[in-house]
Amino acid sequence: MPTLPQPRPSILSIEPYVGGESTVPGVNRIVKLSSNEGAFGPPPSAIEAMAVAAREMHRYPDGHATALREAIGRRFGLDPARIVCGNGSDEIIQHLILAYGGEGTELVMSAHGFVMYDISGRYAGCRVIKVPERNLVADVDAMLAAAGPRTKLVFLANPNNPTGSMLPAAEVARLRAGLREDILLVLDAAYAEYVTDPDYDAGAGLVDSGGGATVMTRTFSKIFGLGGARLGWAYAPAAVIDVLNRVRGPFNVNAAAIAAGIAAVTEAGWVERCIAHNTEWRGRLAEGLRKAGLVVHPSEGNFLLVDFGTAERATAADAALRARGVIARGVGAYSLPQCLRVTVGTAEECGMVIEALAEFARG
Ligand SMILES: Cc1ncc(COP(=O)(O)O)c(C=O)c1O
Repeated sequence: MPTLPQPRPSILSIEPYVGGESTVPGVNRIVKLSSNEGAFGPPPSAIEAMAVAAREMHRYPDGHATALREAIGRRFGLDPARIVCGNGSDEIIQHLILAYGGEGTELVMSAHGFVMYDISGRYAGCRVIKVPERNLVADVDAMLAAAGPRTKLVFLANPNNPTGSMLPAAEVARLRAGLREDILLVLDAAYAEYVTDPDYDAGAGLVDSGGGATVMTRTFSKIFGLGGARLGWAYAPAAVIDVLNRVRGPFNVNAAAIAAGIAAVTEAGWVERCIAHNTEWRGRLAEGLRKAGLVVHPSEGNFLLVDFGTAERATAADAALRARGVIARGVGAYSLPQCLRVTVGTAEECGMVIEALAEFARG
């Protein structure tokens, strides 16, 4: 028997990422509320831009995504030279971890933090330290206490997926201030646009002034409605940008995604409309579910975490939703088997969720 090639041992400790499902056998009309995608589909200008870009698909894209970085820079008031775009923010997260982490190093994250930090951390060979949270909110003191001499990376999703919880700007600043300067703090602000708490800051200021190396990552997959295009970006100090530009693929962002991203980020009124909808319906959905007697955690994202008390009851609630074609997300992979995560969909979709879960709660 030939000996098969073996990956590094940490690779086989990875549980493959399970994405949100999109079908239910036997159900025709599906309401997919399992991946925190925007409620309104892609921005119309992005659909048009992608169609136009298709005519030039034999050409390689601009490997620096210059026009896209400039458009992002204009929208967010940031220097395009300190932006790197990626094939989803997942790609950037992975590059940061592979570049700064590795065997013999530690990556610190909160217990219910976004699962890709764990997956990419193991890929890199890091020891991943999951720090207990307080009432499903990241605990700055505990994270600081967990960061030891081998720690190279600290990840904070703010707001966090799947809990929806947020740390105020002062707490994030305290985290940065308490970490050694050689520890890279990654602030993952995938849901930044949905936050309504006035004490929030996505992190660009800390990137500029943070004393150590802080990176902010963002995505086009949520409010900009382009999850299928795979587009994300990072704003970082020049030294980190230099590292990312050395390790990323030369054409890591495809031409169609670049075109769609420029259109989406400049489409007048899109973000405002989505924020208004999300703020209204996140509130109405939470209120409707609480009135039905369910425990709903406070959320600053475009989703809610609903606690059913036990894993069995969460599974039964999931089945009740599926019977009506509604797909929520089980979050057992986040050590929260008693919960379901539900994306804020359209008004009609939110109504369906409330109706289904109210009926379920009545038993
Ligand atoms: C907190 C967080 N970060 C990053 C991502 C990945 O986003 P992208 O589609 O840009 O890779 C997600 C997607 O669900 C997320 O929830």
